[in-house]
Amino acid sequence: MTPVASTIAIPAMLDPHVHLRGLEWAHKGTFASETAAALAGGYWAVLDMPNTPPSTVDLPALEAKLAAIGREAVCDWGIYFGASQADNTAAYPAAADRVCGLKIYNNATTGDLLIEDQARRAAHYGAWPRRRIVAVHAEGRTVADILALVRATGQRTHFCHISTAEEIALLRAAKAEGLPVTVGVTPHHLFLTEDDVAALGALGRMKPELKTRADQAALWDAIGNGVVDVVESDHAPHTLAEKAADPAPSGVPGLETTLPLLLTAAREGRLSLARVVELVAERPRAIFGLAAPPDTVTVVDPDASTVIERGSLHTLCGWSPFEGMRVWGKVREVRIRGRVVFDGKRVLAAPGSGQNLFPGGAA
Ligand code: DOR
Ligand code: ZN
Repeated sequence: MTPVASTIAIPAMLDPHVHLRGLEWAHKGTFASETAAALAGGYWAVLDMPNTPPSTVDLPALEAKLAAIGREAVCDWGIYFGASQADNTAAYPAAADRVCGLKIYNNATTGDLLIEDQARRAAHYGAWPRRRIVAVHAEGRTVADILALVRATGQRTHFCHISTAEEIALLRAAKAEGLPVTVGVTPHHLFLTEDDVAALGALGRMKPELKTRADQAALWDAIGNGVVDVVESDHAPHTLAEKAADPAPSGVPGLETTLPLLLTAAREGRLSLARVVELVAERPRAIFGLAAPPDTVTVVDPDASTVIERGSLHTLCGWSPFEGMRVWGKVREVRIRGRVVFDGKRVLAAPGSGQNLFPGGAA
């Protein structure tokens, strides 16, 4: 008897945390190349962070980014506004309806948006319209600082790339308290640890950094017990030449490897297929209030395996921290609103065909 090839269809995958680059950092990635990587990774849509220069912290920068991504994107998209060190809150009412949310960087990372002063953080929290979410970079005890602002304001807040057992404990308690918080974890913190840094060198450098095996185990527990809401790639390409410099910039690409890594974990019995679909599609869409468009689906062959290699990636940076790993689950097709935009090998969508998910008007 010939085995029947069976595929899985995942509706409207959304990665709510990517750094597509473009603009002044188009040498690292363009909106065209990195949204192509998103389609190749199975995604319907991505939400782009504001830290690529010129940072998305004022209305001219917002216009410039909307125009550039609108011209180039091959998948659907939204962008974040950024909280700046200088007070940019006057721009918030006009910006809020045109973006998916506000990003506040509360610990050091790529770019110049760090806000360490709690009173300044509170001013941004106070000014951002409640109808849109705040997403935060907060590590360690900073998580508790941000939770104090959530408690005081009731502002819905997504905690990006949570990476330690301590942070998970704080957020688990916050959820039990009823605070309106959601939690994202990245594939690199789920599938790599500090033990991998020796072999990876700068290709294993990102913010938050890779953590201990005990931290990694806490993230997997939190996937199992529902404390984690989404797996977000934190796709952040830098060129190999930049990564060879000292100090190397922080950030790793992830759009094309997240789904196969999770499907491999599902095959190994570490989580269910239904949970994978929740983490990469259903929960991210719900958090950002987005409905799946009709006939928008990722068709995956769970029984096809590949080795992650540079040559097969669409991201302009052309490398992955997961190179050499054998993964199960190959994207055979992505359809958006009934059109085949990725056929398993090639991106078929025209530049600019991706839609803005937050075009303005009422939220
Ligand atoms: O490693 C990181 N790289 N973490 C971030 O938060 C930003 C990102 C980037 O933009 O390169
Ligand atoms: Zn990020």
